[in-house]
Amino acid sequence: MRPSAVKGTYDVLPDDQPRWHALLATTRRILGRAGVDEISTPVFEHSEVFEKSVGESADLVVQKEMYRFEDRGGRSLTLRPEFTAGVLRAFIEHGMHTWPAPVKLWSAGPAFRAENVQRGRFRQFHQVNCELVGGASALLDAEAIALLVDVLAGLGLRGVHVKVGSVGDPEDRQRYNAYLREALEPQAEALSEVSRERLRLNPLRVLDSKDAGDQALLAPLQRPLERLGGEARAHFDAVTAVLEAWGVPFEIDASIVRGLDYYRRTAFEVHHAGIGAQSALGGGGRYDGLIAQLGGPDVPGIGWAFGIERVFDALSGAGVAAAARERPLAYLVALDETAVAELAQLARALRSEHRIEHGYVARNPGKGLRDADRSGARLAVMRGSRERADGTFQVKDLRSGEQHTVPEDALAEHLRRSATGTTTDTDAALAG
Ligand code: HAM
Repeated sequence: MRPSAVKGTYDVLPDDQPRWHALLATTRRILGRAGVDEISTPVFEHSEVFEKSVGESADLVVQKEMYRFEDRGGRSLTLRPEFTAGVLRAFIEHGMHTWPAPVKLWSAGPAFRAENVQRGRFRQFHQVNCELVGGASALLDAEAIALLVDVLAGLGLRGVHVKVGSVGDPEDRQRYNAYLREALEPQAEALSEVSRERLRLNPLRVLDSKDAGDQALLAPLQRPLERLGGEARAHFDAVTAVLEAWGVPFEIDASIVRGLDYYRRTAFEVHHAGIGAQSALGGGGRYDGLIAQLGGPDVPGIGWAFGIERVFDALSGAGVAAAARERPLAYLVALDETAVAELAQLARALRSEHRIEHGYVARNPGKGLRDADRSGARLAVMRGSRERADGTFQVKDLRSGEQHTVPEDALAEHLRRSATGTTTDTDAALAG
C-alpha cells in the first residue's frame, strides 16, 4: 500500500509555498505596524491549559475533539486545538502583565481538532491568531475587529461580512441560559439530538444549530444581545460606535454564539459566501476572566483567529492570483563530463545573486535544453569542449529562442541584465 497522509491533514507542496509566505508577510506587515509582535508557543501544552480555558462544555471537549495523549512520564499533554490558551499561558509564565499594556501578540501555525472532515474542515489546520491583552476599553475591541478586517483586506479579499454581537457578562450568560432552558425544555423532544445535548450542557450553543426545526423553535425567542445587562450593553454600544466612527463595515448579529466557552461581552465573526457551508473565515471575542482562570492575574483581553485554509479557499474562489514559486534564472547544461564539475562550481558562485540550477550528468544539447525547460528557467547556459576551448558559454533564452555566445568574463553581467530585463545591446554585440 502506498503511504498516505493522515485523514484531515495534507502536504503543502513547493508550488503552494509562495502563497503561504505571502500571507504571512502581509499579516506580519499589517499587524506589525499596529504594534502587534509575533510570539511562537509550543504545539502541545499540559492538557489542563486547554481544559481550564476552552471550557468543560465547549464542543471541543464534549465531542472529544482534542488530541490528548500521555507522554512517557504519564503526563497528560494535548495538541493545541487553538492558540489563545497557549499564548495566555505564556503571558502568565513570562509575567507579561508587567509589560506596557496592552500587550499585543500574534502567531501563526498548525492547530489540531479531531473533527469530521469536510470542505474547510481539517484535523490539522492553520490559524493566524492575534491577542490584545491588558485593556478593558471598547477601543481595544474595535481595534481587534478592525485589525482582522485590515489583514483580510490586505490579503486582497473582498466581500467579507463582519458580524458583531455580545454574549454578555457571566451573569447575563447565566440568566440567558436559564431563559433558554425554561423556554426550550418543555419542547426538548422536538429539538435535534445535538441541540438537546447542548441544552443540557451549554444552552447558548443551541442558537448555533443549523437544523431548520431547531431554528423554528428558536424564532420567537429573544437573542443574547436583547437581554444584556446594563454594563455589557453600554460596552457593546461603545464598541459599535468606534467601529462606525472608523468606517469599519460590520453588521450587528444578535444571536452570535462562539464555539468556545471563554468569551465575555464582545463576540465577532467574519464570514465569506464563497467557501461553502463552513463559511466562517475567522472569529474571536473578549475573554476577561480567562487569564485568572488559568492561574494568572486578573487581566482582561480580546483576540481573534482566522483559518488560513479558509482564507485561501475564499481568495482562490474570488480569482485572486496566488504568488508563484521563484523560477531559476538559469539552468546550466553540461555537454561533457568535465563541464559537470565546472558548472556545479559556477552555480555556487552565481547563487549569491540568482536562483541557478544545473544538471548532474552530461547531456547532449537536445536533452540538456529539455531539462532546462522543465526546470522553468529563463535561460539555458551550455558548456562543452568547444566552449571550453573558446572560453565561452552558449546562452539560450528559452522564451525568445535567441541564442548568444557569451565570453566567460561577461556571463555574470549577462545574467544580471537578463534578471532585470534591461536592454540587450551588449548581448547583441556579443552575439556569435
Ligand atoms: P475558532 O472560531 O474556533 O476560534 O477558530 C477560528 C477559525 O479557525 C475559524 O473561523 C476557522 O476559519 C478556523 N478553523 C477552526 N477549526 C477549523 C478546522 N477544523 N479546519 C479548518 N479551519 C478551522 C478560535 O480558535 C479562537 N482561539 C479565536 C480567538 C483568539 N479568540 C480569542 N482569541
